Amino acid sequence: MEENWLNDEYVRYYNSSYQTSQEEFAGYLKLLDINSEDSLLDLGCGDGCFLEAAAPLVKSAVGIDISPLQVSLAEKRLQAYPQASALCSDFVSCASVLRQDKSGITFTKGFSRKALHHLTDPEKHEMLQALAPLFAPGAVLYIEDGIFYNFEREHIQENLDKLMEECAQYYGEAWEQKRHDLLNSFLNEHPTGVGFWTKELNAAGFKVVELKPRSSFYGGLIAKKV
Ligand SMILES: C[S@@+](CC[C@H](N)C(=O)[O-])C[C@H]1O[C@@H](n2cnc3c(N)ncnc32)[C@H](O)[C@@H]1O
Repeated sequence: MEENWLNDEYVRYYNSSYQTSQEEFAGYLKLLDINSEDSLLDLGCGDGCFLEAAAPLVKSAVGIDISPLQVSLAEKRLQAYPQASALCSDFVSCASVLRQDKSGITFTKGFSRKALHHLTDPEKHEMLQALAPLFAPGAVLYIEDGIFYNFEREHIQENLDKLMEECAQYYGEAWEQKRHDLLNSFLNEHPTGVGFWTKELNAAGFKVVELKPRSSFYGGLIAKKV
Protein backbone atom coordinates (compact mmCIF):
# COMPACT_ATOMS: atom_id res chain seq x y z
CA MET A 1 0.00 0.00 0.00
CA GLU A 2 1.33 3.44 -0.89
CA GLU A 3 2.59 5.46 2.05
CA ASN A 4 0.29 8.40 2.76
CA TRP A 5 -0.19 9.55 6.34
CA LEU A 6 -3.34 11.45 5.51
CA ASN A 7 -4.97 8.23 4.30
CA ASP A 8 -6.55 6.52 7.31
CA GLU A 9 -6.39 3.15 5.56
CA TYR A 10 -2.61 3.45 5.25
CA VAL A 11 -2.29 4.63 8.88
CA ARG A 12 -4.25 1.59 10.11
CA TYR A 13 -2.15 -0.70 7.88
CA TYR A 14 1.09 0.80 9.29
CA ASN A 15 -0.06 0.61 12.91
CA SER A 16 -1.05 -3.04 12.64
CA SER A 17 2.04 -4.08 10.62
CA TYR A 18 4.73 -2.32 12.67
CA GLN A 19 4.37 -2.75 16.38
CA THR A 20 7.01 -2.06 18.98
CA SER A 21 7.62 -4.24 22.01
CA GLN A 22 7.46 -2.88 25.55
CA GLU A 23 11.12 -3.91 25.92
CA GLU A 24 12.08 -1.63 23.07
CA PHE A 25 10.17 1.29 24.60
CA ALA A 26 11.83 0.57 27.95
CA GLY A 27 15.19 0.86 26.16
CA TYR A 28 14.30 4.33 24.83
CA LEU A 29 13.07 5.49 28.26
CA LYS A 30 16.36 4.35 29.77
CA LEU A 31 18.45 5.90 27.02
CA LEU A 32 16.70 9.25 27.59
CA ASP A 33 16.88 8.84 31.37
CA ILE A 34 13.19 9.76 31.52
CA ASN A 35 12.22 11.06 34.97
CA SER A 36 9.53 12.90 36.87
CA GLU A 37 11.05 16.34 36.16
CA ASP A 38 10.88 15.84 32.41
CA SER A 39 8.75 17.54 29.80
CA LEU A 40 8.88 15.27 26.77
CA LEU A 41 8.22 16.04 23.11
CA ASP A 42 7.59 13.14 20.68
CA LEU A 43 7.82 14.25 17.04
CA GLY A 44 5.78 11.90 14.84
CA CYS A 45 4.15 10.20 17.79
CA GLY A 46 1.98 7.93 15.65
CA ASP A 47 -0.73 6.24 17.71
CA GLY A 48 0.95 7.31 20.94
CA CYS A 49 2.56 4.01 22.03
CA PHE A 50 5.77 5.66 23.21
CA LEU A 51 3.90 8.53 24.87
CA GLU A 52 1.76 6.00 26.72
CA ALA A 53 4.88 4.27 28.04
CA ALA A 54 6.46 7.59 29.07
CA ALA A 55 3.38 9.42 30.40
CA PRO A 56 3.27 7.92 33.93
CA LEU A 57 6.95 8.77 34.43
CA VAL A 58 7.12 12.44 33.39
CA LYS A 59 5.86 15.87 34.40
CA SER A 60 4.41 16.42 30.94
CA ALA A 61 4.45 14.84 27.50
CA VAL A 62 3.29 16.11 24.11
CA GLY A 63 3.14 14.28 20.80
CA ILE A 64 3.01 15.87 17.37
CA ASP A 65 1.62 14.12 14.33
CA ILE A 66 0.27 15.21 10.97
CA SER A 67 -2.38 12.47 10.86
CA PRO A 68 -5.68 13.32 12.58
CA LEU A 69 -6.32 9.59 13.00
CA GLN A 70 -2.97 9.04 14.76
CA VAL A 71 -3.68 11.99 17.04
CA SER A 72 -7.11 10.66 17.99
CA LEU A 73 -5.67 7.17 18.64
CA ALA A 74 -2.92 8.73 20.78
CA GLU A 75 -5.42 10.84 22.71
CA LYS A 76 -7.42 7.69 23.48
CA ARG A 77 -4.30 5.96 24.84
CA LEU A 78 -3.47 9.00 26.94
CA GLN A 79 -6.88 9.49 28.53
CA ALA A 80 -5.63 8.27 31.89
CA TYR A 81 -2.78 10.81 31.89
CA PRO A 82 -3.87 14.46 32.06
CA GLN A 83 -0.21 15.49 31.82
CA ALA A 84 0.06 13.97 28.32
CA SER A 85 -1.53 15.00 25.03
CA ALA A 86 -1.18 14.82 21.27
CA LEU A 87 -1.49 17.68 18.80
CA CYS A 88 -2.19 17.54 15.10
CA SER A 89 0.44 19.50 13.20
CA ASP A 90 3.12 19.10 10.57
CA PHE A 91 6.68 19.23 11.88
CA VAL A 92 7.57 22.54 10.27
CA SER A 93 4.66 24.43 11.88
CA CYS A 94 4.59 22.57 15.18
CA ALA A 95 6.70 25.09 17.13
CA SER A 96 4.04 27.77 16.67
CA VAL A 97 1.25 25.25 17.39
CA LEU A 98 3.05 24.30 20.63
CA ARG A 99 3.53 27.96 21.60
CA GLN A 100 -0.19 28.55 21.15
CA ASP A 101 -1.47 25.36 22.75
CA LYS A 102 1.13 24.89 25.51
CA SER A 103 2.09 28.45 26.27
CA GLY A 104 5.44 28.71 28.07
CA ILE A 105 6.32 25.02 27.77
CA THR A 106 10.01 24.08 27.70
CA PHE A 107 11.12 20.56 26.85
CA THR A 108 13.85 18.67 28.67
CA LYS A 109 13.64 15.55 26.48
CA GLY A 110 12.85 15.06 22.80
CA PHE A 111 12.22 11.85 20.89
CA SER A 112 11.54 11.12 17.26
CA ARG A 113 11.54 7.69 15.70
CA LYS A 114 11.02 6.80 12.01
CA ALA A 115 9.40 10.15 11.30
CA LEU A 116 11.81 12.94 10.32
CA HIS A 117 12.87 11.32 7.02
CA HIS A 118 9.52 12.63 5.74
CA LEU A 119 11.01 16.12 5.71
CA THR A 120 13.34 17.38 3.01
CA ASP A 121 16.66 18.69 4.31
CA PRO A 122 15.57 22.36 4.06
CA GLU A 123 12.40 21.43 6.00
CA LYS A 124 14.51 19.72 8.68
CA HIS A 125 16.51 22.95 8.96
CA GLU A 126 13.35 25.03 9.29
CA MET A 127 11.86 22.70 11.90
CA LEU A 128 15.02 22.61 14.04
CA GLN A 129 15.43 26.39 13.96
CA ALA A 130 11.82 26.89 15.02
CA LEU A 131 11.80 24.20 17.72
CA ALA A 132 15.21 24.79 19.32
CA PRO A 133 14.09 27.70 21.54
CA LEU A 134 11.49 25.39 23.11
CA PHE A 135 14.23 23.10 24.48
CA ALA A 136 15.87 23.91 27.82
CA PRO A 137 19.68 24.10 28.11
CA GLY A 138 20.91 20.55 28.77
CA ALA A 139 17.81 19.00 27.14
CA VAL A 140 18.43 15.69 25.40
CA LEU A 141 17.05 14.88 21.96
CA TYR A 142 17.10 11.35 20.54
CA ILE A 143 16.47 10.94 16.81
CA GLU A 144 16.20 7.47 15.29
CA ASP A 145 15.55 7.13 11.61
CA GLY A 146 17.02 6.40 8.22
CA ILE A 147 20.43 8.04 8.69
CA PHE A 148 23.40 7.48 6.37
CA TYR A 149 26.41 7.01 8.63
CA ASN A 150 29.04 6.56 5.89
CA PHE A 151 28.16 9.21 3.32
CA GLU A 152 25.97 12.26 2.80
CA ARG A 153 22.67 12.18 0.96
CA GLU A 154 24.03 13.97 -2.13
CA HIS A 155 26.38 11.00 -2.68
CA ILE A 156 23.65 8.36 -2.58
CA GLN A 157 23.86 7.43 -6.27
CA GLU A 158 27.57 6.58 -6.17
CA ASN A 159 27.03 4.62 -2.92
CA LEU A 160 23.85 2.83 -3.99
CA ASP A 161 25.41 -0.52 -5.00
CA LYS A 162 27.30 -0.79 -1.73
CA LEU A 163 24.20 0.26 0.20
CA MET A 164 22.12 -2.45 -1.48
CA GLU A 165 24.79 -5.04 -0.59
CA GLU A 166 24.72 -3.90 3.03
CA CYS A 167 20.90 -4.05 3.10
CA ALA A 168 20.95 -7.58 1.65
CA GLN A 169 23.40 -8.65 4.35
CA TYR A 170 21.48 -6.89 7.10
CA TYR A 171 18.05 -8.27 6.20
CA GLY A 172 19.13 -11.71 5.00
CA GLU A 173 16.18 -13.75 3.73
CA ALA A 174 13.72 -10.89 4.31
CA TRP A 175 15.62 -8.61 1.91
CA GLU A 176 13.72 -9.39 -1.31
CA GLN A 177 10.46 -8.59 0.45
CA LYS A 178 11.79 -5.29 1.85
CA ARG A 179 13.80 -4.21 -1.20
CA HIS A 180 11.08 -2.18 -2.93
CA ASP A 181 10.08 -0.18 0.18
CA LEU A 182 13.64 0.50 1.24
CA LEU A 183 14.77 1.62 -2.17
CA ASN A 184 11.72 3.86 -2.36
CA SER A 185 12.57 5.36 1.02
CA PHE A 186 16.25 5.94 0.09
CA LEU A 187 15.44 7.56 -3.24
CA ASN A 188 12.04 9.20 -2.85
CA GLU A 189 11.86 10.09 0.84
CA HIS A 190 14.52 12.06 2.66
CA PRO A 191 16.76 10.01 4.95
CA THR A 192 19.89 12.06 5.30
CA GLY A 193 23.56 11.86 6.27
CA VAL A 194 24.89 12.09 9.80
CA GLY A 195 27.03 15.06 8.73
CA PHE A 196 23.91 17.00 7.74
CA TRP A 197 22.19 16.22 11.05
CA THR A 198 25.28 17.23 13.00
CA LYS A 199 25.62 20.54 11.13
CA GLU A 200 21.93 21.41 11.45
CA LEU A 201 21.72 20.42 15.11
CA ASN A 202 24.80 22.55 15.83
CA ALA A 203 23.22 25.48 14.00
CA ALA A 204 20.12 25.08 16.19
CA GLY A 205 22.15 25.08 19.41
CA PHE A 206 22.47 21.32 19.97
CA LYS A 207 25.66 19.26 20.15
CA VAL A 208 25.63 15.66 18.91
CA VAL A 209 27.06 13.67 21.82
CA GLU A 210 26.64 10.08 20.63
CA LEU A 211 25.91 8.16 17.45
CA LYS A 212 23.99 4.91 17.75
CA PRO A 213 23.99 3.25 14.31
CA ARG A 214 22.16 -0.06 13.95
CA SER A 215 23.44 -0.36 10.40
CA SER A 216 25.11 2.04 7.96
CA PHE A 217 21.65 3.27 6.88
CA TYR A 218 19.49 3.24 10.02
CA GLY A 219 20.03 4.20 13.61
CA GLY A 220 20.01 6.90 16.22
CA LEU A 221 21.84 9.95 17.41
CA ILE A 222 21.76 11.74 20.74
CA ALA A 223 22.05 15.51 20.83
CA LYS A 224 22.24 17.82 23.82
CA LYS A 225 21.02 21.43 23.92
CA VAL A 226 23.94 23.65 24.81
C1 LIG B 1 6.62 5.66 10.45
S1 LIG B 1 5.51 6.45 11.55
C2 LIG B 1 6.40 6.35 13.08
C3 LIG B 1 5.49 6.45 14.27
C4 LIG B 1 6.19 6.26 15.62
N1 LIG B 1 7.14 7.32 15.88
C5 LIG B 1 6.88 4.91 15.65
O1 LIG B 1 8.10 4.87 15.86
O2 LIG B 1 6.20 3.89 15.49
C6 LIG B 1 5.72 8.15 11.07
C7 LIG B 1 4.72 9.10 11.76
O3 LIG B 1 5.10 10.43 11.39
C8 LIG B 1 3.94 11.16 11.01
N2 LIG B 1 4.35 12.16 10.01
C9 LIG B 1 4.79 11.94 8.74
N3 LIG B 1 5.08 13.10 8.14
C10 LIG B 1 4.85 14.08 9.05
C11 LIG B 1 4.98 15.50 9.03
N4 LIG B 1 5.42 16.14 7.94
N5 LIG B 1 4.64 16.20 10.13
C12 LIG B 1 4.19 15.56 11.25
N6 LIG B 1 4.03 14.21 11.33
C13 LIG B 1 4.36 13.48 10.25
C14 LIG B 1 3.00 10.11 10.44
O4 LIG B 1 1.64 10.51 10.48
C15 LIG B 1 3.30 8.88 11.29
O5 LIG B 1 2.42 8.76 12.39
